[in-house]
Amino acid sequence: MYLARGNHENKNMNKIYGFEGEVHSKLNETFVELFSDVICCLPLAHLNLLVGSDSIMVAITWILSLMLNNPQVLKKAQDELENKIGRNRQVEESDIKDLVYLQAIVKESLRLSSPSGVIFPRAAMKDCTLSTGYHIPTGTKLMINIWKIMHDENLWPDPYSFQPERFLCSSHKDIDVRGQHYKLLPFGSGRHSCPGISLSLNVMHLILAALLHSFEITTPSNEPVDVTKSNGLTNMKATPLEVLLVPRLNCIL
Ligand code: HEM
Repeated sequence: MYLARGNHENKNMNKIYGFEGEVHSKLNETFVELFSDVICCLPLAHLNLLVGSDSIMVAITWILSLMLNNPQVLKKAQDELENKIGRNRQVEESDIKDLVYLQAIVKESLRLSSPSGVIFPRAAMKDCTLSTGYHIPTGTKLMINIWKIMHDENLWPDPYSFQPERFLCSSHKDIDVRGQHYKLLPFGSGRHSCPGISLSLNVMHLILAALLHSFEITTPSNEPVDVTKSNGLTNMKATPLEVLLVPRLNCIL
């Protein structure tokens, strides 16, 4: 069953990211067009409702793995918790807005190791020609390779390194993951973007903050975490993550 949606008027089709991975300069126009004038496969949306909670688990596993492999980031996050909250009480939801570095860690992890790599198939509702020269006839099924966009060195300097700091510099500090900035789309964009964005971000920030605040976290062997990815629809870690937790708060939990 297909669901038609949108009737957006946009004459400026520019370049597109596809599996060929063309570099493009005008992401905005392209995505406004693609994400508005499309046909969506409804059963896939239902499937995603089931895997939504899985995505949170996958995302948190990656965030922890990336931090364990970058201990300076882990320390900086714990220092921020120390400064903003101290050791005599637990983290509360209302603290999250002050944890700017933690928020940057979540963004950078979703960029580097997003649980989804490709956005569900959509189909163009009208003919268009992209600036790369591709002609897309009405009805052509399109898959957006968000992984490629989020690892493009023209958009992200040193794209494979884990640098939460990139979201603190003046040019990137306002970039968020809610589908308005087309170079960072872990939750997709447009009318069928992920409805679980707010839930996921709240849960991820709170779990992460509580974990980092309450425990010293290390790996049992002190070896770097294996970051091999598994195959499949969701980008899961191929091997389980094992951590050692040691309480670090003064208060009794
Ligand atoms: C870190 C967590 C999550 C990530 C990275 C994620 C990512 C995504 C992405 C990339 C899409 C496709 C968007 C598009 O086509 O433009 C999507 C769709 C969807 N997600 Fe999530 N998701 C997450 C959590 C959740 C949760 C917790 C729920 C439910 C409670 C959920 C429910 C859905 C549903 C129902 C859709 C289909 C929306 C539609 O087609 O209208 N997701 N998600």
